[in-house]
Amino acid sequence: MVAPSVLMIVGTDTGVGKTRTGRALARRLCRGGRRIVAIKPLETGCTGPPTEREDGVVLARATGQVEPGHALLRFRDPVAPPEAADREGRQIDFEALVRRAREHAARASIALVEGAGGLLSPITWERSAVDLGRALDARVLLVAGDRLGTINHTLMALQVLELGRLDVMGIVLTAPEQPDASTGSNAAAIARLSGPRRILSAPRLTSLEDASRHLEEVTKWLDLA
Ligand SMILES: Nc1ncnc2c1ncn2[C@@H]1O[C@H](COP(=O)(O)OP(=O)(O)O)[C@@H](O)[C@H]1O
Ligand SMILES: [Mg+2]
Repeated sequence: MVAPSVLMIVGTDTGVGKTRTGRALARRLCRGGRRIVAIKPLETGCTGPPTEREDGVVLARATGQVEPGHALLRFRDPVAPPEAADREGRQIDFEALVRRAREHAARASIALVEGAGGLLSPITWERSAVDLGRALDARVLLVAGDRLGTINHTLMALQVLELGRLDVMGIVLTAPEQPDASTGSNAAAIARLSGPRRILSAPRLTSLEDASRHLEEVTKWLDLA
């Protein structure tokens, strides 16, 4: 069997548009008739039963998958996963989490995996999203906000990805709610400073269908046979 293609959606930070990008990309890829699974390995800030406010649920709805219907591991407090786990007296088994993610990925031709927080946000006190990407043999889609500060954040993230020997498929810059003087110029600046790269500036589209159409370019980066 051909190994599933795992694409990890990582961010320069939390709140930069990973989930928005992931759900739109998942929807687009589903249109191509492929079996897509979208996975949120860990999610914090989850109180009570899973609701549509949770990333894991949003991603599952975008593909229509039954399993997983929500994040593989859910924690109550909206803090980094190992801190949230400590507060509940739980432990995060990194290897078991990787196994579960791989099992889901194996049932699809492409698995989208959304990281928690930013690239170096811890998954356990020993492992980060970079380690998860390596463990899943993932390629990476880096998501950043198209706003002041993103040049620095994006270049730092690219260096971290390079150190972690993760293959960066491309970068999506998401439009902020309030554009600033840098919005619209950051993609060219990042390309100029980091060398030729695939960078897509994504406008702030509210409809899932529009957002998904706009990510057509990213599906080409995936180079699907
Ligand atoms: N195109 C958009 N239109 C409306 N709201 C958006 C858009 N993109 C992002 N948001 C809002 O910005 C916030 C952060 O986006 P999200 O995708 O959840 O980021 P992340 O997954 O990186 O934490 C969310 O509240 C989301 O609803
Ligand atoms: Mg998210």
